[in-house]
Amino acid sequence: MNRGILGTIGSPLVQVSSPPGSVIAAKIESKNPGGSAKDRPALAMVEAAEKAGKLSPGDRIVEPTSGNTGIGLSVVAAAKGYDITVVMPASKSPERRQLMAAYGADLELIDGTISDAKDRADELEAEEGMIQLGQFDNPANPEAHYRTTGKEIVEQVDGHRIDALVAGIGTGGTISGVGRRLKEAFPDVSIVGVEPETNAVLSGGEPGDDEFQGMGPGFVSPNLDRDLLTDVETVSIGEAEAECRRLAREEGILVGQSSGGSLVAAKRIARRLAEERSIDPKACPGPDNNVGILEDEPVDTEPIPESCPLVITVFWDSGERYMSTGLFE
Ligand SMILES: Cc1ncc(COP(=O)(O)O)c(C=O)c1O
Repeated sequence: MNRGILGTIGSPLVQVSSPPGSVIAAKIESKNPGGSAKDRPALAMVEAAEKAGKLSPGDRIVEPTSGNTGIGLSVVAAAKGYDITVVMPASKSPERRQLMAAYGADLELIDGTISDAKDRADELEAEEGMIQLGQFDNPANPEAHYRTTGKEIVEQVDGHRIDALVAGIGTGGTISGVGRRLKEAFPDVSIVGVEPETNAVLSGGEPGDDEFQGMGPGFVSPNLDRDLLTDVETVSIGEAEAECRRLAREEGILVGQSSGGSLVAAKRIARRLAEERSIDPKACPGPDNNVGILEDEPVDTEPIPESCPLVITVFWDSGERYMSTGLFE
């Protein structure tokens, strides 16, 4: 028995289909209690503020967010007894708003980008005495991924070498924290960021509009450790959405655009690694869903040869959070 919902944070690492001669596995972050990767930094930022004496029950938290951090913080606030105001661009999906409201959060919708939401949260902090946790520069954000997401991945690969981490970048917390952990365990691992092709600031482009929720903030987040990055890939919303539909229909995995986009880029890297290393296209087994749920003993699965390049990616949240966007129609 868990003594509280927040103790259930964590997620499985699941193999998905990949180019011949490679293996890709994704962290299924929708399995966290608030349904996304952001439960991890939400809890870490609150606990760090409590430890520093900046936050005690009864205080009101304020946070600008495009959604998942707001939901994660709403879960943490509800479970720990804080009030919370979430400032959010009105363009983000209504499912996100409804979820935060269900957890008892107050919402302030603004016309504009995440940067405008940040300006408004700064005002509320200065004028109303609310406490902002600052996911873009709070070190507890990447630290949460270093201590949980990254640690879990190293344990979940059962000793197989990891060749690359390919992940979208919002605050940079996930790629920086997980990347640091993976580099310690596998010094040669490549760390590849993913950003929207119409908002490719890290690739040297101008900030622009995009329809991704959660990745591509339009500026370089202070929480992004750029020195860790080997490379940055750009993806279009069209190819990311097509990948989401394929994943749902062919693999039974429901995710949103930034997860689809991360997988598009992960496949490029996996294909490159398989070619560079001339891996036999038949050498690496695909996903195996022969579970044997009614059997007493676990069903044997074909082992993954050490020669197969292994690429890790992150599926941030569930596709259920994107139904109103028409993504699956
Ligand atoms: C849907 C989605 N994709 C990608 C990201 C990127 O994560 P990070 O902020 O850790 O860079 C997030 C973070 O909120 C997200 O919610």
